[in-house]
Amino acid sequence: MAKLRVVGGNPLCGSVRASGSKNAAVAAIPAALLAHGPSRLENVPVIGDVEVFVDILRELGADISWRGPGVLEINPNGFEEWQAPYDLVKRLRASYYLLGALLAKFGRAEVALPGGCDIGVRPVDLHLKGFRALGAEVSLEYGVVKARAERLQGATIYLDDASVGATINIMLAACLAEGTTIIENAAREPHVADVANYLNAMGARIHGAGTEFVRIQGVPYLAGGEHTIIPDEIEVGTYMMAAVATGGEICIENAIAKHLEAVAAKLRETGAEVETDGDWIRVKGPSRPRAANVRTLRYPGFPTDLQQPYVSVAARAEGVSVVHETIYENRFAFVSELLRMGAKIKVEGRTAIVQGVERLLGAPVRARNDLRGGAALVVAALAAEGESEIDDLQYIERGYERLDDKLRALGAEVTRVP
Ligand code: UD1
Repeated sequence: MAKLRVVGGNPLCGSVRASGSKNAAVAAIPAALLAHGPSRLENVPVIGDVEVFVDILRELGADISWRGPGVLEINPNGFEEWQAPYDLVKRLRASYYLLGALLAKFGRAEVALPGGCDIGVRPVDLHLKGFRALGAEVSLEYGVVKARAERLQGATIYLDDASVGATINIMLAACLAEGTTIIENAAREPHVADVANYLNAMGARIHGAGTEFVRIQGVPYLAGGEHTIIPDEIEVGTYMMAAVATGGEICIENAIAKHLEAVAAKLRETGAEVETDGDWIRVKGPSRPRAANVRTLRYPGFPTDLQQPYVSVAARAEGVSVVHETIYENRFAFVSELLRMGAKIKVEGRTAIVQGVERLLGAPVRARNDLRGGAALVVAALAAEGESEIDDLQYIERGYERLDDKLRALGAEVTRVP
């Protein structure tokens, strides 16, 4: 288990470049299997979740390899496996995308239900509802989802909740189906549109991805394609939080500012200056942030994945912030670690009441099985006085590329202890 040692209390300053989006990459990689020719993905982040997915596909027999920094080539020719067992997929929640991809490719898929962060129950009923609507027979046997269809048929599918995973999984399944599929109340997160752009580059006909109404006209065949993954707005948002929590001033390059409007607005409420020119964002934190309430929402609202890093900002703000989580039922477990750093936070169900303190104090803490909760501890440790040690670093490295290097480039005193 690696650790991150942080000597905090100093404002971050300097520039950092955003990496490619984790959530787009883990959907684009299985999407490549749908084609009849090789694909080349660029700006792929080298992070734990991506490396795990590459390993899973390799073990299933796919020809997939890194061709340079952030460049992944995937050749699906010869790939014939439609079963993905639990001991492979349990390492990664996004392995559920294999269901849509294998079902589209082979007309059958058997994929064990995956693992992932401990932040809530996270069912996949809406994914399965979508596959059934497309004409697949779907069952759950001994923890394995089995889906089968002679030929998937386009259908209109209303999602009761705008699930990101269900939207992308249905897009994957529907792009080779017969006829037109319509997803109503689709997720609008930036990576939904990014994955659709990649599928379209391979010859799919997807319209409206990124809005709540997505139309997919099935095509008989997809060729390979080239695609550059969008920047990771959650990584960018995390660095924005770190700048505000430490009272620093940083510039994040290779970002899409439009994807972070809700976050920028909230940080301005805390007294931060946020400027942008479209593809870079400059954030200057006040010496001490003001309290501000947050309610997580689906995109374009304030993202649940930045709720936890935001709690670390609120932990040293002046006043009381009420943070309400609407997407997951259990996303405050990391708070018990923040308390060890002197934070004053009370959690009641899906709400955290954060009484800001003037000083956080370094402490040994654990990320446990929680990627963004771990990122929140890093933000708090950077702001805290003295030394912190964040254990279980690999959970954080599932989603943050070269975290220690990037923080050092911003002047932070951090050491990765293997
Ligand atoms: C994706 C992101 C994740 C982010 C989340 C919400 C990826 C790989 N991960 O996760 O980082 O936190 O969106 O922005 O893109 N739900 C159901 N039934 C379903 C599907 C979801 O009830 O069939 C519920 C879950 O229990 C949970 C919420 O919806 O409460 C999660 O939403 P969803 O958008 O599906 O999240 P993921 O795709 O898992």
